[in-house]
Amino acid sequence: MCMRFAPGSRGRLTRYDLDRFPGDSLFDRLGRVVCSVGRLPRKELYEAWELGRRVRRRCRGGRVVDVAGGHGLLAHVMLLLDDSSPEAVVVDPDPPPAAAALHQALVAEWPRLNGRVSYLRVDVQRFVLTAGDLVVSSHACGALTDAILDAAAEASAAVAVLPCCHDLATCDPGPLAGWMERTLAVDAVRALRLETRGYAVSTQTIPAAVTPKNRLLIARRELP
Ligand SMILES: C[S@@+](CC[C@H](N)C(=O)[O-])C[C@H]1O[C@@H](n2cnc3c(N)ncnc32)[C@H](O)[C@@H]1O
Repeated sequence: MCMRFAPGSRGRLTRYDLDRFPGDSLFDRLGRVVCSVGRLPRKELYEAWELGRRVRRRCRGGRVVDVAGGHGLLAHVMLLLDDSSPEAVVVDPDPPPAAAALHQALVAEWPRLNGRVSYLRVDVQRFVLTAGDLVVSSHACGALTDAILDAAAEASAAVAVLPCCHDLATCDPGPLAGWMERTLAVDAVRALRLETRGYAVSTQTIPAAVTPKNRLLIARRELP
């Protein structure tokens, strides 16, 4: 991964950044595609990459469902890192305008993605998940992360989230807020609730230089 410039910047990657991604690695190729589109914040590339790599070490295959997916970069990264997933769906009622351009550019670079990524403009509550799905979500704001975890758990789907914007009016720190920083308490309660629902939970972080909201929760239903 190229670390010569701040990976957590909200500045857009554009064609002027192309020479920062000179190599033949998957990451550099991905970086060049994002630069060629010219519309995505730099941090989005690094977040999708760091999250995708860690999730794929634990969760292989499955239909990928990128909830609150925005441009849908994570959905594509998940397929590129594990081609055994047949398809990916980006579930977002209000995707950004550049989502279609990003998808076209990624398909042009990797034709095997053609026809395998779809965008659905619906609320997560209206999307039907199944037990074989792998639900991923990068920075679903506040209680939306809880809605995603609930929807995944009701379907017994594997799930990985990188929470952000903890809203202490709607997110539950349980009884832990007296002992630890409140947003950490919220995420700790989320992890423990998944365990009580029969999930094997892994708590990790992605580099803080990419985002300060860097707690990654990965959960898979344990076999009976
Ligand atoms: C902070 S953005 C994150 C986008 C992307 N995952 C990323 O990391 O760049 C949050 C996204 O959640 C979407 N969103 C809001 N409410 C939603 C809902 N009920 N179901 C699914 N997505 C939702 C928004 O449209 C927005 O694109």
